[in-house]
Amino acid sequence: MKDAAPTEITLRRPDDWHLHLRDGDMLRAVLPDTAAHFGRAIIMPNLVPPVVTAAQAEAYRGRIMDALPAGSQFQPLMTLYLTEDTAPADVAMAFESGLATAVKLYPAGATTNSASGVSNFENVRPVLDKMAEIGMPLCVHGEVTDPQVDIFDREAVFIDKVLKPIRKANPDLRVIMEHVTTENAVDYVRDSKKNLAATITTHHLIINRNHLLAGGIRPHYYCLPVAKRERHRIALVQAAVSGDERFFLGTDSAPHTDPAKLQSCGCAGVYSAPVTMSCLAEVFDAADKIKQLEAFASLNGARFYKLPPNDDMITMTKGDAIPLPPGPSTPDGDVTVFDPGFDLHWRVSA
Ligand code: DOR
Ligand code: ZN
Repeated sequence: MKDAAPTEITLRRPDDWHLHLRDGDMLRAVLPDTAAHFGRAIIMPNLVPPVVTAAQAEAYRGRIMDALPAGSQFQPLMTLYLTEDTAPADVAMAFESGLATAVKLYPAGATTNSASGVSNFENVRPVLDKMAEIGMPLCVHGEVTDPQVDIFDREAVFIDKVLKPIRKANPDLRVIMEHVTTENAVDYVRDSKKNLAATITTHHLIINRNHLLAGGIRPHYYCLPVAKRERHRIALVQAAVSGDERFFLGTDSAPHTDPAKLQSCGCAGVYSAPVTMSCLAEVFDAADKIKQLEAFASLNGARFYKLPPNDDMITMTKGDAIPLPPGPSTPDGDVTVFDPGFDLHWRVSA
């Protein structure tokens, strides 16, 4: 006989391997939501101006630590924004001193604040070579920016035109394909032998492009890479719940104020930090894989980054539906929390 489905689970404290915290008022408004559940997070460097140098990363880390709620043990893991002028020695120093955990590659123009990203990949080869030599991971926003390429195809084209050549030229480089949204990316990661992993966001496990566009446009579901067809969403769920250690959580929780999202050219980004663990538990529970949540959210990422899992545990409990929490407020406007479109029954209870 099948065991009764659990209504309580205990797992290692999760980490978020892709997070936008911003700066200033927004940083102070959103950081408590992530620090409430997560032990560590990979902090995206796409500020204005971007976090390019070790010195900038050190200063940003200081501002994050200052914004943490009293007593919080949360650890920000810093990244450096790769430009065509990035110096290999600066990157190596930042990694070897423990200041930076990874380098972030944005193709120029791919997304929010990515204008200083890379156009000619030949120009960053010395940095990538150095990173491969010292074992420093590269986080990749995997979309081409060619306006001729349809936005729904940009991830798949990136794999063929950019990622495969980079990894062929540099097989020792450790690469994380971030926020994968397609079956193509899942297959590419699954077929790889080594040095490749992928993060999957909470929202891409839940929404497809119909949620964004059918029956009215829903700006709070607009993000980059844009949500794809249902077939792709299903491939992402299968990868996430499979336990395959190459797939792990990176929420890409990316706060923008409502005025910035609700306009004729609104910003890309979904703010999921406060509800991510509840949403993930629903997804894993619906797939009858609640016990794999720990691998996805708490173990696989740490393993790829060669870090120990967090020491402490969290408990999640399933009960009556819980209301969506209100989003944070900033002087420039409120931030809307991701609404999965179904009731949430799981909450982090301890
Ligand atoms: O939706 C997104 N928002 N995708 C990104 O790649 C960037 C992020 C942001 O910074 O707002
Ligand atoms: Zn992001």
